[in-house]
Amino acid sequence: MAGYIIEGGKKLSGSLTVSGSKNASLPIIAGTILINGVTTLYNVPDINDIKITLKILTFLGCKVHKKNGKVIIDTRKMHNHEIPHDLMRQMRSSVVLAGAIIGRFKNAAFSYPGGCDIGARPIDLHLKGFQKLGIKIEENSGNIRCRCDRIINGKINLDFPSVGATENLIFASVLSDGETIISNAAMEPEIVDLQKFLNKAGAKISGAGTSEIRIIGVKKLNEIKYTIMPDRIEAGTLLCGAAITGGFLELKNVIPEHISPVLHKLEECGCKIQTSNRVITLEAPKRLQAVDIKTTPYPGFPTDMQSVFLSILTVAKGTSVVIENIFENRFKYTNELKRMGAKITIEGKTAVIKGAKKLCGAQVKSTDLRGGAALVIAALSAKGITKIDDIEHILRGYEKIDVKLNSIGADIKLYK
Ligand code: EPZ
Repeated sequence: MAGYIIEGGKKLSGSLTVSGSKNASLPIIAGTILINGVTTLYNVPDINDIKITLKILTFLGCKVHKKNGKVIIDTRKMHNHEIPHDLMRQMRSSVVLAGAIIGRFKNAAFSYPGGCDIGARPIDLHLKGFQKLGIKIEENSGNIRCRCDRIINGKINLDFPSVGATENLIFASVLSDGETIISNAAMEPEIVDLQKFLNKAGAKISGAGTSEIRIIGVKKLNEIKYTIMPDRIEAGTLLCGAAITGGFLELKNVIPEHISPVLHKLEECGCKIQTSNRVITLEAPKRLQAVDIKTTPYPGFPTDMQSVFLSILTVAKGTSVVIENIFENRFKYTNELKRMGAKITIEGKTAVIKGAKKLCGAQVKSTDLRGGAALVIAALSAKGITKIDDIEHILRGYEKIDVKLNSIGADIKLYK
């Protein structure tokens, strides 16, 4: 397994451009299945989760071409409606492909994505919503087959504003002959980007970004070109890298309001933040102040920033409390931070962090995508050398994060 060797203690300073959003790209790539033609996407990040998703589309019979940030997807010869089990297991979020396949072909087969390092990640809300749309579901030892003659439009209320369930129910409703209303829908910016993408292709969706989304079914969608929004979680991660090293960062191609809760918390920590329409600049204090964090669905503090933000609090002045309200097992990475000298106690969904003066470099391993990113951020300021193993988790969701951080003063070496 590959790893990073990081020499800590370097103050980061400089300017970076944020890549395209992983969590907007994945559903939008799935959404191309609804277009019986050729779709061109720009600003798609070059990360492993995208590679897996494109591999599944190829398996389903699509023709896929990817060069740098441009991806061309031709679905005209799509013939298979079954997502392969081994690829489902590799990436839970591939469950949104099911909604798109059902939306176009009215039948799909896939396996339970299964839990991962951050929680059980059930799909009950997806399946309950499908049933509300008249989709018949057969389950048999972990395999799920969905089929319907036509989508029965109607009103669906989500018990929880699940991002994936919202995306899946939009997909299933776009090509239908009636109106579907999703209430208590997820309000994340990635849902807004998905609505923009589908409406550009001729869909009639409104309300994304609010808790009620209306989809008026249409007969077909047209071929389009579309540019993916910037990755707000990468943006927050890079800002935390500058913050923990007492540095300076100018971030370009970012939408500040997508991460305003993170910016407010960085200001509470003592950082000076300036924003314009697509630029954020951060100037960090010598030492951060402790703050308290509670993750909630958008527009609250994002769960995907919980681990990275907690890592900067390990060397803040004072004691911080972090409460993780979205996933039931998203503190696993803190055991690795403790090996670096972090003082963290976990009680259920609450972490209490006593700020240390400095962390020390150690041998650690990444447990999941955002937990791995937290270790990189902590290593930037730790005294001495940190070795991070199993960085495949990090490569799933961050495009060249080592190259980016090195370009502003970090010392990260990749080893295979
Ligand atoms: C999306 O995951 C993101 N992934 C996650 O980012 C993100 O953490 C999450 O939304 C919340 O913002 C992608 O967009 C590819 P959910 P998703 O359905 O859709 C429970 C990252 O690091 N739930 O909103 O899987 C679930 O267990 C990843 O980039 C049910 O109980 O998240 C969780 O506790 C990690 N039943 C909560 O809801 C369901 O049917 C939020 O899940 C569905 C979800």
